Amino acid sequence: MQNNIFSGLFVGQNLVTIKEVDSTNIFLKTLLSNSKPLPEGTVIMAESQYAGRGQQQNKWHSDPGKNLTFSILLTPSFLPVSKQFDLTRVVSLGVYEALKPILGDKLKIKWPNDIYYEDRKLGGILIETNLQSDKIKSAIIGIGLNINQENFEPGAGNAISVKQILHKDYDLRALLSEICGHIEAYYLNLKAGKFSFVRNTYLNRLYWLNEAKDFRSNGEVFKGTIINVKDEGLLVVENNSGQHEFSLKQIEFLNK
Ligand code: BTN
Repeated sequence: MQNNIFSGLFVGQNLVTIKEVDSTNIFLKTLLSNSKPLPEGTVIMAESQYAGRGQQQNKWHSDPGKNLTFSILLTPSFLPVSKQFDLTRVVSLGVYEALKPILGDKLKIKWPNDIYYEDRKLGGILIETNLQSDKIKSAIIGIGLNINQENFEPGAGNAISVKQILHKDYDLRALLSEICGHIEAYYLNLKAGKFSFVRNTYLNRLYWLNEAKDFRSNGEVFKGTIINVKDEGLLVVENNSGQHEFSLKQIEFLNK
């Protein structure tokens, strides 16, 4: 089914909704390689994924019809690979900005790109890029957000949904439209070269920014404070021995 309820310029203008698919990221990737060129901003939204994928080879579980599971095609050929993390910032900020009016200040972006409400995970983002020399030819932006789901399996860790927070159902398409609009706005800022704006805004929305918290790295637990995110995306944590930079696999946040 194809239709258009979106007011932005291009993100969501070509919206394809499907009932069931393995993963919207895989579907979009296949579509991109098989068919005629797809317009930038194409969105594939699924009611249900039977092989949803998360970061670090994890699975993404979502009750059919209850949540947002979708992928957006972007073609940021203006962005050098060295600035790839700015795309992560743009997408995280777009999702954040769309949810902020309904969820308020307890909403945060957990580095690098999880959407958190207090200490619980509301959603996640999986970006898969196709590089050509030092440029990003295309990016498949997969977004999963827990919206109307009421219960989670014990294995779902610290998952939470908008419904569990606000005790009412939200219209998935209206939220999708908001998210697309905000991602587009941040993306256009990036395209216009406003890196400082995007980077500073992202930093200021971070979970645990400037708070002394427990982390684990290399099997060792330590107290430290997130003070920055490097341009290329490394997390900077300060402790009594100085400032240290971490990639995703090198550090774990230890919630109480
Ligand atoms: C994470 O692990 O936090 C990232 C989760 C990303 C899930 C979304 S759901 C839509 C898209 N399709 C997938 O298979 N994964 C992403």
